[in-house]
Amino acid sequence: MQTKKTILSASDLYYSYLNEDTGEHLSVLKNITFEILEGEFVCFVGPSGCGKSTILKILSGLEKSTKGKVNIEAKKIAMVFQNSALFPWLTVRENIAFGLKMENINKSEIDKIVTEKINEVGLSGFEDKYPIELSGGMKQRVGIARALAISPDLLLMDEPFSSLDILTAEKLRKELLDIWVKYKVTIVMVTHLVEEAVELADRIFIFAPRPTFIEEVVSINLDKPRDKRSQEYYDQVDKISRQIKT
Ligand SMILES: Nc1ncnc2c1ncn2[C@@H]1O[C@H](COP(=O)(O)OP(=O)(O)O)[C@@H](O)[C@H]1O
Ligand SMILES: [Mg+2]
Repeated sequence: MQTKKTILSASDLYYSYLNEDTGEHLSVLKNITFEILEGEFVCFVGPSGCGKSTILKILSGLEKSTKGKVNIEAKKIAMVFQNSALFPWLTVRENIAFGLKMENINKSEIDKIVTEKINEVGLSGFEDKYPIELSGGMKQRVGIARALAISPDLLLMDEPFSSLDILTAEKLRKELLDIWVKYKVTIVMVTHLVEEAVELADRIFIFAPRPTFIEEVVSINLDKPRDKRSQEYYDQVDKISRQIKT
């Protein structure tokens, strides 16, 4: 049997911060240990405010853990945020090109990659618009295109579809699955929607209330794309929903 490589692991992560008002140290993460394999799609679910975004920030290097170790074998990491975090003064095309310009790639190559990503995420015709002129769904598309433009082998996503209407979110989830299949990129996605996690993930990490730890890991062994009307799908959603403590 071929064993897959670990692309990302965390061992015994702790995170606490100082509450300036009370002078107390507030514990957010305790004893977070996991391994994620190359090509896996992992979703983090758990109660609001438990520390899921904090873990992603630590994994991406935006935040430093108080204790413990993160080991990243990925060559390139990209992150997608809930609010897309676009540069308002740059057009769609310029936003997507941003990471590539940092990488010192020549202009014609950048143009080629950006055009490819624009087509891939359905942004044709919007190239020269500014973020303020775009709907929420379109902004998320730009955020995803910008992340994909640098050809990441690890994509960290923090509630990327949470601010979108149901139909747009549904469409973007399907497109993300196509991208995951096409590029074999490893994806770690935070979501508060169990339905979304069961639709997309190979494994779901269920986090406990703060200070959080991994309460349970559930493997979803259903072929993708998944039939959301199937009994198995419904059973998994139901079981996991009941496992999340608030
Ligand atoms: N440096 C910090 N300063 C103040 N509060 C923080 C800090 N880091 C984390 N928190 C708090 O820790 C908790 C966990 O946050 P977060 O990771 O955003 O949760 P989640 O993404 O699961 O909703 C929240 O209550 C947040 O306000
Ligand atoms: Mg969060």
